[in-house]
Amino acid sequence: MRRILMASAAISVLASATARAEESVEVLHWWTAGGEAAALNVLKEDLASKGVGWSDMPVAGGSGVQAMTALRARVTAGDPPTAVQMLGFDIRDWAEMGVLGNLDDLAAEQGWAEVIPEAIQAFSKYDDHWIAAPVNVHSTNWLWINKAALDAAGAEPPEDMDGLFAMLDAFNEQGITPLAHGGQPWQDGTLWESVVLSRGGMDFYRQAVLDADADALGGDTMRQVFDDMSKLREYFDGSFSGRDWNLASAMVIEGQAGAQQMGDWAKGEFLSADQVPGEDFVCIRFPGTQGSILFNSDQFVMFDLGDDEKRSAQLKMAAAVEDPAFQVAFNTVKGSVPARTDVPDTDFDDCGKKGMADLVEAAAGGTLAGSLAHGHGQPSAVKEAVFDVVTQHLNGQITTDEALTRLPQAVAAAQ
Ligand code: GAL
Repeated sequence: MRRILMASAAISVLASATARAEESVEVLHWWTAGGEAAALNVLKEDLASKGVGWSDMPVAGGSGVQAMTALRARVTAGDPPTAVQMLGFDIRDWAEMGVLGNLDDLAAEQGWAEVIPEAIQAFSKYDDHWIAAPVNVHSTNWLWINKAALDAAGAEPPEDMDGLFAMLDAFNEQGITPLAHGGQPWQDGTLWESVVLSRGGMDFYRQAVLDADADALGGDTMRQVFDDMSKLREYFDGSFSGRDWNLASAMVIEGQAGAQQMGDWAKGEFLSADQVPGEDFVCIRFPGTQGSILFNSDQFVMFDLGDDEKRSAQLKMAAAVEDPAFQVAFNTVKGSVPARTDVPDTDFDDCGKKGMADLVEAAAGGTLAGSLAHGHGQPSAVKEAVFDVVTQHLNGQITTDEALTRLPQAVAAAQ
């Protein structure tokens, strides 16, 4: 009898091990740079500890442009992945098609509504139903500066555009590339939205970008922005065209360049190169944008696959993502801040602590807005229309006058 019991216990252990091994998620994402992959590993390992396997579908390409193309191909072929990293308006578009799994029960169980900021919920919910699990909050209006170069310049971190140009001049004199940039439309757009915020402030950003106001898009403040963009281009090196964002970060890390304008996923690159904030690099809000935040939040959507086993794995993944301890473990590596407001900042470095404090301040002060370049300002078509004009102008293919005529036209046509 005892032997039979032991044998059946062994069989049930085996059976549950097999069930565990079979339960897995296929995840489409674009986290392929060093810091991103390190953060993704935190998630993979967390799921492994919960018996959920991981099938990786990485699609390289900053900001997820190529990943979204790959997703459309998978869905068209009738084979959507289990879980997909997604941003802002893209989440809404897929939700509108009715293909995303409903996360209401889990959200209620874990109390998401009480801890996820309203601005993020606006993209995690559709028609009052939860359809996405936010993993973080990034923001785009940051500047990453090589500390040794800053010290050698004898400069204080700049607080406005004039200060920025003065610092870049000093880097020029040191014989390094003043501003590391990757010439890809989304990176051009990321730089542009910081300059828009710096020159015009949050009211102007809202008017021009969120409200797509033609006068703002073609007016005097925007002229200043495009003039600044032309001037900033003079501080790039000759090989900026097409460069990936993490290679631009590497230039700052290695001291070949003085600074990079980029969202705080760049911090993940500095950290994965063993750099310490305040010692090796300095993080500041893009000069002139202190007190305001352009945010983007990576979220995971779970496609409705009509399969109970897959749904169980999807729910485990969504639950893991919203776990407060996971939010700390993941976001301290990724460079982002938690998607929950109840997570302490104790384990975050100075840049992370600043990011968390800035987010609270901006949310309370009404100076928090979605990043256009990262899918939280306008639907994709409008975003792409802005990128086209900004990139052509940055590359010298059109003049500032032409950009000011084309920008409102292109945006209107894309709406
Ligand atoms: C952003 C995304 C970040 C980071 C970055 C560069 O859109 O939110 O998580 O991956 O692109 O790829």
